[in-house]
Amino acid sequence: MKIATGPGGHPAGRILAVASGKGGVGKTVISAGLAHAFSKLGERVLLVDGDLGMANIDVQLGLSPDADLGDVLAGRALLEEAALPVLGGAPERGGFDVISGRSGSGALAGLSAQAVSRLASGVTALALSYDRAIIDLAAGADAATLRLALAADDVIIVVTDEPTSLTDAYAFVKTLRLRDEGAAPLIAVNNAPDEGKARAAYATFRKTCESFLGFAPALAGCVQRDGKAPDAIRAQQLLAHRHPNCGAARDIEALAGALARGLKAA
Ligand SMILES: Nc1ncnc2c1ncn2[C@@H]1O[C@H](COP(=O)(O)OP(=O)(O)OP(=O)(O)O)[C@@H](O)[C@H]1O
Ligand SMILES: [Mg+2]
Repeated sequence: MKIATGPGGHPAGRILAVASGKGGVGKTVISAGLAHAFSKLGERVLLVDGDLGMANIDVQLGLSPDADLGDVLAGRALLEEAALPVLGGAPERGGFDVISGRSGSGALAGLSAQAVSRLASGVTALALSYDRAIIDLAAGADAATLRLALAADDVIIVVTDEPTSLTDAYAFVKTLRLRDEGAAPLIAVNNAPDEGKARAAYATFRKTCESFLGFAPALAGCVQRDGKAPDAIRAQQLLAHRHPNCGAARDIEALAGALARGLKAA
């Protein structure tokens, strides 16, 4: 049987989940930025808002979807019908498709385990029509978030250099590996004041994981603190579109490059 491969030679439909322990660490900024960056590398990309309680990709990107995950889960739309193109959806412009959650409602927070499993299966099936799907997860490690993370081929945990972020991320790694002992999530350090502090935060985190879990997560990359990120959110635009070549956008591009080259846990 011939297996379809994407532009990088990897199997089409590879799923990347972007997680964190603590909220507000930059998962959505990084998820949307990675979608754009992978697209510029020639991939067809699907970005899914997997934050079922507090979805907000549509708000961050200024989208007005006709259908969202709420409609899909209520049987009013098919998953693929909820995919809205951003920047024409075309890789040559860095475009991609977005499936929005139900922003500002919290209505999807209490989904049954079966409904979340159906959603995970649906995303896995739809991802085969793309080179890569990115799931922007909710903060924390509740059952729905873990279920979506376990459906992914790669998991990145976004951390900052704050101890609260690192302890919550540790809890996420521990919980994920209790469910799947082979899980090897990668780390992205976001919003550190400088590269040295970012790397020091990662070193602390790695040491803790090694000591207590016998597992050392690899560093996928660091994204610098950049005032252009909140500015882009206020303008409801993609960071790399509003501020092409700003520091954080360049770092996210480098992160996408490392992932596309198939970075694996060290
Ligand atoms: N590299 C950065 N530099 C400066 N500010 C940043 C950076 N990354 C994210 N931010 C800011 O942090 C805030 C939270 O970002 P974002 O919404 O992406 O976090 P999140 O992890 O998705 O949050 P939630 O857990 O609520 O979903 C935003 O105001 C954003 O502008
Ligand atoms: Mg978010």
